[in-house]
Order: sequence, then structure tokens, then C-alpha cells
Amino acid sequence: MKRLFLTLVFILFFGGLAYAGNTVPGEPFLQTADAVRGKVVAEVRCLACHHLHLTSKRIGPGLKGIYNRKPTISGVPFARWDAVALDAWLANPRAIKPNTPMNTPPVAARDRADIIAYFKKDETRSLPDL
Ligand code: HEC
Repeated sequence: MKRLFLTLVFILFFGGLAYAGNTVPGEPFLQTADAVRGKVVAEVRCLACHHLHLTSKRIGPGLKGIYNRKPTISGVPFARWDAVALDAWLANPRAIKPNTPMNTPPVAARDRADIIAYFKKDETRSLPDL
């Protein structure tokens, strides 16, 4: 089980790196996006810096209920974190906000679509915050 998990982490991380520079918008994938896979991808790619189930800050702001929420950070040209905004942000945060401390490698289009599907489903909104 642990080995499977590590293999998954390896594939997602290095697969993500291999896709670096891939800035094809994730939107075409949104029709077929997989929220279950998106949860796993988000855990691997975002959890180091964000609580996914809490609003409290880790290195970055908590992402609980992020879908369609107003940005808590300054300097982004979005009224809400909808699919288009999240897609652009995850493709390349520095293209949106040049000095942002979220200096992450680009997330591949398929992964972005799945992460957005997971946030959209938002099964964590009703969990108590800590
Ligand atoms: C290396 C750490 C790091 C990683 C990994 C990371 N982030 Fe971030 N994130 C940050 C920081 C720091 C900020 C605050 C940015 C700012 O203030 O400009 C942020 C901000 C955000 C915001 C804005 C939140 C708000 O309340 O307005 C979103 C959305 C976001 N990140 C999503 C993600 C997602 C989804 C992933 C995984 C694919 C991810 N981040 C991976 C560090 C990270």
C-alpha cells in the first residue's frame, strides 16, 4: 500500500514536472474531469503548502470551500476563484501575479481539470474547521 502510494506520488510529481511548460488551458478537460483523481492530485501537489479541508493558513491560505470563493490574497484580477481563474492560476501563478510566493511548477491541464472538479464537488465544505 505504502509502495503504491509512493509510486503514485512519484508518477504525479515527475509527471507534473515533465509537463512543465505545458500551458494548454485545462478547460477542454473539464467535461471529463475526475474529482476522485483530483483529490489525490491535490493532496500530492497542494498539501505541502495548503490545508485542503481547513480555512486556516499553512504556508498559503486554506483552500476549504475555495471554489467560487473570493480571493483572500491580493494582486489577482479575479472576483472569484471559478474554474477559469483556478485554471489560469494553477497553470502559472507567476503569470497572474509576478511576485507571488506560490512559485510552483505548472500543473498539467488534465491535473488542473481534475483538481478543479474536486474543489467544485466540495465534499469538505461541511467539515468543521480547526
Ligand atoms: C510551495 C507552496 C505552495 C504549493 C505547493 C501550492 N501553493 Fe497555492 N499558494 C501558496 C502561497 C504562499 C499562496 C499565497 C500567494 C500570494 O499571497 O500571492 C497561495 C495561494 C493560493 C490560492 C489563493 C487562495 C485565496 O484564498 O485567495 C489558491 C487558490 C491556491 N494557492 C491553490 C493551490 C493549489 C490548488 C495547489 C496545488 C495544485 C497549490 N496552491 C500549491 C503556496 C503554495
